[in-house]
Amino acid sequence: MPTTRTPVGIVGAGPAGLMLGHLLHLSGIDSVIVENRSEEHVVERVRAGVLEQGTVDLMHDVGLDERLRREGMRHEGIHLRFAGTRHRIDMSGFTGGRAITIYGQNEVVKDLIAARRTTGRPLYFESSEVSVLDLETSSPRMRFVHDGDEHEIACSFIAGCDGFHGVCRQSIPTSHLTAYEREYPFAWLGILADAAPASDELVYSMSERGFALFSMRTPTVTRLYLQCAPDEEIDAWSDDRIWSELLARLSTLDGWQPNVGPIMQKAVTPMRSFVAEPMRYGRLFLAGDAAHIVPPTGAKGLNLAMADVKRLSNAIAAFFATGSEVELDRYSACGLKRTWRAQRFSWWMTSMLHQQEGNNPFDYRRQLAELEYLVSSTAAMTSLSENYVGTPFD
Ligand code: FAD
Ligand code: PHB
Repeated sequence: MPTTRTPVGIVGAGPAGLMLGHLLHLSGIDSVIVENRSEEHVVERVRAGVLEQGTVDLMHDVGLDERLRREGMRHEGIHLRFAGTRHRIDMSGFTGGRAITIYGQNEVVKDLIAARRTTGRPLYFESSEVSVLDLETSSPRMRFVHDGDEHEIACSFIAGCDGFHGVCRQSIPTSHLTAYEREYPFAWLGILADAAPASDELVYSMSERGFALFSMRTPTVTRLYLQCAPDEEIDAWSDDRIWSELLARLSTLDGWQPNVGPIMQKAVTPMRSFVAEPMRYGRLFLAGDAAHIVPPTGAKGLNLAMADVKRLSNAIAAFFATGSEVELDRYSACGLKRTWRAQRFSWWMTSMLHQQEGNNPFDYRRQLAELEYLVSSTAAMTSLSENYVGTPFD
């Protein structure tokens, strides 16, 4: 098998791997991106929708925000719904004008793949037998099979952007990695509906029947989630049952409710918090979901992935420009600081808004009291807003 060379081998063509490839390209650094799924699968997968200001700024800085500016929906506030009433939090007002933008992860990935194609740099979908080796040497290698051909690529660095179930983290000796984890006793059933969004902004709802979230993708597509059991059989949820549960959890006493329409897609997503420390082993650097998972309640996962790869590309560019490893050495500690802040926030939002088995009327009243305090305290709303819109990327 002939060995070729590239400065950076990137495993995974999700948002993290594709953005890293693009940032390196802008610094004149070549890379090879290897993905085990098909392009169609990577693009069609329905996942995140909320971009922090930092992610929007990054898309702008790398010249990929033309469609995002046109089609993205800037939201300056969110609603918290409890006890039958919606309460708006003016996030921009509490954060000096920062905001979130609704733009599907699919669209981000589409824009990044198009940009990669324009550069002509390699991107291999449907690769199999992907492995990484010699990670503790200065010439780690990436191996994979593509179109029946075996490839071996010697790299200066390997970026593990291959998500929670990828091979990179699993290639680190367990003695060099500590995993911190919490699984939640519930999941989210998410749907995409062909129905115009009934609210201009997101609605997070805490109800005795469980959590529900109203979100959107376009002016004609609503995205909704409801808390369900972690082992929920999707077939047990007919479209009628989904709508009646969503309406029961989201409707308000003033008559507001989501618009109902045909369900175009539905899936159950488990919830977990996970952090791998450190985010580096030798010349392998973990980024995005490969290193950390947050429950989706705080809308932080994609944004953390983007913050990681921005820092990593800066560190790699500094190394090739000056030989300095200072930024590479700081990569993990800086990333973990941001990650733990997002973990704390996502865990807090999740526990404040979901019902847990074993909760009794005391717990429900305590949750109501917390939400009542939150929507009446400037300090508490400021804290939620700064975390939700996200701190600037470092
Ligand atoms: P991934 O997107 O998982 O990409 C990893 C890639 O690596 C995949 O394409 C995978 O196929 C590939 N891969 C895996 N193994 C291998 C291998 N062995 N070889 C080669 N390639 C491999 N985040 C937000 O910020 N805001 C939100 O609103 C939000 N909502 C969400 C809602 C849901 C329902 C879900 C499930 C997630 C949500 N997230 C949200 C989280 C967000 O989608 C993830 O954090 C994000 O996809 C992470 O990007 P990534 O590139 O690190 O990983
Ligand atoms: C989404 O629109 O998919 C979405 C919005 C907010 C979240 C999670 C997901 O917290």
